[in-house]
Formats: sequence, structure tokens, C-alpha cells
Amino acid sequence: MLKDSFNRVINYLRISLVDRCNLRCVYCMPLENIRFLPGEELLTSREIELVVQAAVSVGFHKFRLTGGEPTLRSDLIDIVERITKIPGVDDLALTTNGLLMRTLAEPLKRAGLKRINVHLDSLNPEVVRRQMRWGSFERIWEGIAAAEAVGLTPLKLNAVVVRGYNDREVSDLARLTLDHAWHVRFIESMPLGPGKCASVAAQGYVSNRDTRELIERELGTMYELQSEDVSDESRNFRLNGAAGVVGFISPVSDPYCGSCNRMRLTADGKFHMCLLNDDELDVRKLLRRGDSTLSEIGQVLIRAVANKPFGHRLAEGHSTQGRSMFQIGG
Ligand code: 5AD
Ligand code: SF4
Repeated sequence: MLKDSFNRVINYLRISLVDRCNLRCVYCMPLENIRFLPGEELLTSREIELVVQAAVSVGFHKFRLTGGEPTLRSDLIDIVERITKIPGVDDLALTTNGLLMRTLAEPLKRAGLKRINVHLDSLNPEVVRRQMRWGSFERIWEGIAAAEAVGLTPLKLNAVVVRGYNDREVSDLARLTLDHAWHVRFIESMPLGPGKCASVAAQGYVSNRDTRELIERELGTMYELQSEDVSDESRNFRLNGAAGVVGFISPVSDPYCGSCNRMRLTADGKFHMCLLNDDELDVRKLLRRGDSTLSEIGQVLIRAVANKPFGHRLAEGHSTQGRSMFQIGG
């Protein structure tokens, strides 16, 4: 078991595969002046495999692929196959906007992926177009259906609530849980990095207290569920008689840093120690030296864990400067 300096067990690695995305959600990715990583700066599938092997050897067992949008990697299936083959990898999931799931769900399932989280802010096609910009509700919905059909379950839907965009129709998303055994989770917007998206995220912030209140006013009181997993960042509820779960992820109004179990790997091969801080440790240089051993890679990871900061200071207006959300992957 690998513990950080605050006695938290760190066993979950989120791997960003690429910083590109085929959407431009208002709180995440600007429409212009984005500098994407050149291809040669991205870790290769083999390099990612080595990091996961090293991570397992120091105590990690849970993994997630993120982006940007991870389905934009043409070698995604190869990456999933490599990771799921590694003994000690108990769980591999993927966070996606669902646009390409219609064709990818089946090969991903076959490659050993367990489940996916789909990012969808609204069931209203107009709001999706406005908030996720290049988004198409219909296409995402087809992607969700494809994922469910092949058993990439339990399916989780994530919605970032933004005032003036989707904040009045959260109940429509929550209502899905009545008939579907899905987790529909509402996320408080966080400002990351420089630029316009961070101000949209900050100005559009809605407390999950308000979101929950609105849902309960419209759909009735929910009862809280006991979480099986102490590091689950979501507080989970159930509507009366519902098949699924309504969750609230509240990094701003109810920080869960005390039970954080995560480390992050950026697409360009840095261990990013805390979502909302800039601290990083490079592992790509070691990977590209050519003769690096798993034990050396593991040592870098151990050092990153040892230096993990306690938590965020959003309340004091502190966040990342260097990277935006799409360059870390949530
Ligand atoms: N604040 C909160 N959540 C965000 N996401 C993207 N940008 C933000 C933000 N500014 C969420 C998306 C995505 C996940 C990786 O992070 O829902 O699914
Ligand atoms: Fe793409 Fe996700 Fe960012 Fe939206 S939130 S732009 S889907 S990476």
C-alpha cells in the first residue's frame, strides 16, 4: 500500500491520453488559441503500459483513461488491451464525451474495458449545442445506448452545472435514474488554468446544494445511500423507487481532498499530483532514456505520491496556472 504524507492510500491513477477534444465545453476548452501537444510529446501505448506496470508494482490497482477526449487516440484499443492484460489491474474505466461510442463501445468491451463515464450536460439538444458547443445530443445519446448494449456498466453520466446554461433542467437528467440503472452525477464547475473557460466556470458556479434542492422540489425527496467506497468523491442519493443513483460531486462546496486516493498522468508524461495544483514530476524523460527499469519508474511515482499536496485552495482563489481541465482530464 502506498501512502502519501497525509496518510492517504494512493492507489488510483488517471491517465490522460491526449489533450485534443472533439467538443468545446464552455467551462473546459476555448474555441481559439489552443496549443495542442505535438504527437511526439504524447506517451506511446508502450510507454503507458510501462507506467501502469510500474504503478501496479508500487500498489496501484485502479485506472482510468481520460483526455481531452481519449477516444481521439487512434491506438485506444491497443492501449486498453495492454493495460487490462497486466496482472494486478483490477479496474479500468474511461471518461468520454460519448461522441464516438457508437463504433467504439464494442471493441472497447472486447479489449477488456469495464465501464465508461459519459459527459453529458443536458437532455435538451439546444442546451447541449450551447454548453458543449460542438456537441450533438443525438449522437451522444446513441453512444450511451451502444455502451449500455455491450455492457460497459454501471454507466455513469456526468453533468457540469453552469448557471445560465443547464442549471434549470437538472431534474430532467436526474429523472433518467427512475428507469435506468445509471449514475447521474452533478459536478460543481471548477476554474482551472488561465483564460476564458476558467471565468465561465467561476462565474457560472452553482452550489450542489442548490442543484439538489431544485431536484428534490421537482422530483421529490431523495434518500442518501451509504457509499461502499470511502474514496468515492460523489455523495449518492436515490429517488423514490428509482433504478439508478443521483450523485453530487462537490469539490467547491464540500471538498473531499481528505479521502483523495488519486494520482494523475498527463498525456505528455508528467505525474500531476493534485487536480487543482500545478505540482508535477516528469516521467517521460526516464521512459525515453531507453534502458529504464520498472523499479526506476516506480520510484518516480513514489516520489510524486510523497509530494502530493493536501488539497485545493479554491476558496482562496488558488487553482492551476499551467494547465487547464482538458490538459489534465478531470
Ligand atoms: N469543472 C468541473 N468539471 C469539469 N469537467 C470538465 N471541465 C470541468 C470544470 N471546469 C468534467 C467533465 C468531464 C470530467 C473529466 O471533468 O464532466 O467529464
Ligand atoms: Fe471535451 Fe470533456 Fe472538455 Fe467537454 S469537458 S471539451 S468533452 S474534454
